[in-house]
Order: sequence, then structure tokens, then C-alpha cells
Amino acid sequence: MEGKLKDGFVADLKSRCSFTQIASKYLELTKKGRTYWARCPFHYEKTPSFSIDEFEGFYHCFGCGESGDIITFIKKMEGLSFMEAVEFLAKSVGMEVQYDSEADMATIAKQNQQKKQVLKALYDAKEFYKAQIYEKTAIKAQQYLKDRKINKSSLENFEIGYSPNFQLILNKLKALGYDNDTLLQAGIISESKGKLFDAVAERLVFPIYNTYGEVIGFSGRILDNELDVAKYKNTRQTIVFDKSKAIFGLKQVMDAKRAQHFNTLILAEGQIDIIMLHQFGFQNAVATQGTALTEQHARILKKVCDNVLVCYDGDTAGHKATFRALDILQGVGLQVKIINLPAGQDPDEFLKTNGSEAFQKLIENAEEVMDYKLRTLAEQSKMTSNESRSQFLKKAIDLLKTLPTLAEADVYVNSIAKYANVANNVVRESLNSAMSTLKKVKEPKRELSQIAQNFSDAYQKADKIILASIIHKKPYILDNVNLSFVNTNYQRLYALLLSKKDKGQEFRISDLYDIFNLEEDKDIAELVNYKFSASEELDKQEYLNSLDVNRMRGLEIEIKDLETLYKNAVDLSKKTELLTKIGNLSKELTNLKTSFVK
Ligand code: UTP
Ligand code: MN
Repeated sequence: MEGKLKDGFVADLKSRCSFTQIASKYLELTKKGRTYWARCPFHYEKTPSFSIDEFEGFYHCFGCGESGDIITFIKKMEGLSFMEAVEFLAKSVGMEVQYDSEADMATIAKQNQQKKQVLKALYDAKEFYKAQIYEKTAIKAQQYLKDRKINKSSLENFEIGYSPNFQLILNKLKALGYDNDTLLQAGIISESKGKLFDAVAERLVFPIYNTYGEVIGFSGRILDNELDVAKYKNTRQTIVFDKSKAIFGLKQVMDAKRAQHFNTLILAEGQIDIIMLHQFGFQNAVATQGTALTEQHARILKKVCDNVLVCYDGDTAGHKATFRALDILQGVGLQVKIINLPAGQDPDEFLKTNGSEAFQKLIENAEEVMDYKLRTLAEQSKMTSNESRSQFLKKAIDLLKTLPTLAEADVYVNSIAKYANVANNVVRESLNSAMSTLKKVKEPKRELSQIAQNFSDAYQKADKIILASIIHKKPYILDNVNLSFVNTNYQRLYALLLSKKDKGQEFRISDLYDIFNLEEDKDIAELVNYKFSASEELDKQEYLNSLDVNRMRGLEIEIKDLETLYKNAVDLSKKTELLTKIGNLSKELTNLKTSFVK
């Protein structure tokens, strides 16, 4: 998959990792038979449907269909690239990553060196800005902090700094021995028309840290709310700064968590909101860094706590952002509630006017996700006409359909009826019919009975059943059958299976992730996720039928090839020989076909 790694290194690494041991750092695992079960980290659920097969080296969630090997797992849990995940795993089992060649080793070493240098420059830049805030040149900045009621301990805790002008940091850091390239790479300075200058010049500077507590960038706020410049300016994308992963306040939260355990985070929008929340005693507050919440952010939050209170601004933009964030947060398995701020306020303003006790009350009154969604939906619909009412009902039912059971959906019937001003029964009836049609659609159709009518569908289905049975090592698998596939991925898989067998090696599902990308190769992902029936007898029957179907297609192809040969042959005895062969194969094919059409 990655040219940079030495051949066989990934397989070696995977064989040294105990999947369940590593996963147990993230999940609570229970063993049943040889399978381990946990609540899925990739979607919200109450009962475990996430399974890990240690021997096969892969995981699969029967709820959301996610699956992968240990590398995919670490990629997702830690928000890493493939290479980073390999490095992470190698480190955790004490292996040295082996690269393809000397040249690649040198490139990697150079990159690591560059990264180190960039982080060092960022650290020194932070120290520089921090010191500047106490200088005479920072009078305006000091006044600004006073005006916004940011106290000394916040100043220190968040290491807030100031950049007095466009040049000073450049001179200081160059005096410390950094070259222009490093400073540009770190995003500390920018370049325009050949001129180099401080990227957050004349701004209050907030350092941003990664989960290891290293400074990876800055956010600079202007001191006057002038109209023509951006209020905040953030470090551009660099080799260490990625805004879709960066979280403001995370370092301070981790520090606080060391002193006092908690399992809930407050997610707000802005830097000053976070600083104020911490100052008012809510040391579990974080914000994304000048960008909308991403799944990567959510996964990082999930590593810190299991619960999140979303506390976005009390305006339209805030509500929109909340709706979006709820799905993303729940999507990674977080438990979520919403803190409702008065219209038009943000946490900073609220705290300054009402104090921490009032905010504590808001926390206690935090709203459940479904309640919040239904209420905002009701507030958006005017409910002035029958049409708007039924529109609201439809949308409300759509929301309920996302719940796993009818019983859970039923809880909300009363409040929906109240919002729409209709009888409970009206809501209950549409809910019942919506949930039952849903079930029907989901019900799997798995008989091979329509084979006679539709051979090409049947062929595909049979291939799937055969390969799924093989890779899941069903006890009824027959050895030494002649199989053929037309789908190229299936051909590759079959070749892999045969070569393993030739070499006397046992095939493991985790081997698939070495040659396929299961996010793109859906046909292979389907095999991994294949749902067998509850009855092994039934599965066996299907498998045996599928062998026949596969054989039928094999025969059809073989016959066609022979027919071409026959047409081109000139030698009479050759022709006769071919004809006999075609005749025999055709007979076999007809027999097979008639045995299917009952
Ligand atoms: P807001 O516009 O709500 O500002 O932006 P705020 O948080 O109340 O800021 P203050 O209190 O006036 O200082 C919310 C967040 O969006 C990001 C910042 O992280 C900000 O805190 N933002 C905003 C930017 O990155 N760039 C901007 O130009 C504006
Ligand atoms: Mn604000």
C-alpha cells in the first residue's frame, strides 16, 4: 500500500500486535467464544455490536458496518494517516519501522528533523510573544485584556502573548539561529512580494497546542474591531498545524484533568469563550480552532471524555452549527447534550453578566439531543397552516426514524403532538407506519430462488456467497473445487487465497487490507461484512447452490471459448474433438440449469 515501507514490514508489525490488547485501551471488551465485543466507537449505541476477531486480526461492527484491521483502527481512533498509524503501532510494540531503501530512510529522517526544528521554532515564538505582553509596546494589548476581563491567571494558563510589529519576531528568531525556510514552514512568518513578516503582527496571540502539549500554531486577535481585517488570524496549514484536528483549550483541559478527574467536555465556539469558561471555573471547555467541527476533532474529544455539552452561540449560525455538530459527535460514540444560551449571547458574555452559578444552572438544564432537535424544528416551522403542520410532522418523524427502536421513538410522541397541536394518535400512527416500512426495506432477501430468471444477478450473488464462506472459514467449505470469477477484485482475492494455500500459509482476513482499500473496494468490504443466516444448515445449502451457479458460468465461458476455437479450426479431427468437448460441457450445463428450475 505504501511504497516507503519495506516489503513484509506491515505483515510483521500486524503479527506482533495484539489487537484486543491495543483496543482495550480505547474500548471495554467482553469475550464471547473467540470473539471480543464492545460498544462501537464509530457510532452511538447502547449495546455492543462491535466485534474483534483476534486471530483474524480484524474488527467489524454489525451496527454501522465499519470494518478494518488494526492499522485502520488506529488510523481512525487517533486521527492518523496510514504511515503515522504504522509508526504509532511500531512504537507501541517496540519495533523499528523498516523502510524500503536507504534513500527513503534519509528522506524520512530529514522530514523528522524538519518537524523537530519547526516545533522548536514555534516554542521559541510562543516564548517571545509571551514576554512581549509585559513590554511598554503592549500598553494597548494590556488594556484590551483588562477590558475583556481576562485575569492574570488566565494570561499565564493560556500563555497569551502579543506581537508588537511586523519585524521583531523575525529578527529575534534569526538571532536564535533559525533560517527563513524553517520560519516559513512553521507558519510563524508570511511572505508577500518578497517581503517576510510576522503572520500575527499587531495582534494578541493565543498559542495552540497538540495533544502532546506542543505548540503547533497561533491564533491572533486584532485589538480594534476594524472592519476591513479578519478579527482572528490563524496559522496556515503547515506540517504540524492542521485546523481540522486542532482544538483550542485542549492542553489546559488535560492539565486540569490530571488534578481532578472529569468525563464531560464543554464545546464552545471561540477562544475568548474558552478562556472565560476556564476563568469562571469550567476547566473542561474546548473549542475547534477557527473552523467547523470535523470527525477528526470529535475523535480526539472522544479520547478525552465520553460526554460533550455543546455550547455554541445563541444565534442562527450557532443553531446551524449545533445541528451539524450533534451528528458528528454522536457519530463517534459520544454522549451529547446541548447547553442553551439566551438569544444572541456567547459563553463569554453570559458569564460576565450572569456569573458561574447561572452557567452551572444552564449545565444542569442541558437538553437531550432529540428534545433539542424537535424543539428547534418546531420553532422553525410556523405551524400556522395544516400544510406547515404536516411538514413539521414529516420532518419530526424522519428524526425519530433515526432511533434504533420503536419504543425509543415512542417517548417523543407526546411532545411532537403538542408542538403540532394534534392528537397523540395522529403522531403515533404515522410513526408506526414509518417504522414498519423501514423494517421491510431493511429485511434481507437471500434466497437463490430467482436464479432461473436472472442468471447474471445470481452469478454475482453466488460469487459473493462462495468467497464470503471461504474467507470466514465456514466448516462446510469444499476443497479442490474449480472456481472462476469475472470481477477483477474477486479474481485478485481468489489468487491470493490460492497462493496462500500453495505456500501452506493460513489466510487471515487482515491480509485483505494489505492489497485492498476497503473504503473503495466495496465488493471486498461486502465480503468482510457478509451477514450469514442464523442457521448453518441454510448457509451450507446456499454455499453448495452457489458452487453450482459458479460452475454454470464457468461452463458458459468455456463453451464460448471452445466454439471460437471450433470456428477457426481447419483440421477435421481437431474440429471433431472440439465438438465432442462442447457437447459434453453443454450437457453438464443443461443438467445444472434444469436442476435449478424446479
Ligand atoms: P465570533 O465571531 O463568534 O467571535 O467567532 P467571538 O468568539 O465572539 O470572538 P470575540 O469574543 O469577539 O473575540 C467565533 C470564533 O471563530 C473564529 C475564532 O476562533 C472565534 O473565536 N474566527 C472568527 C476566526 O477564526 N476568524 C475570524 O475572523 C472570526
Ligand atoms: Mn465573543
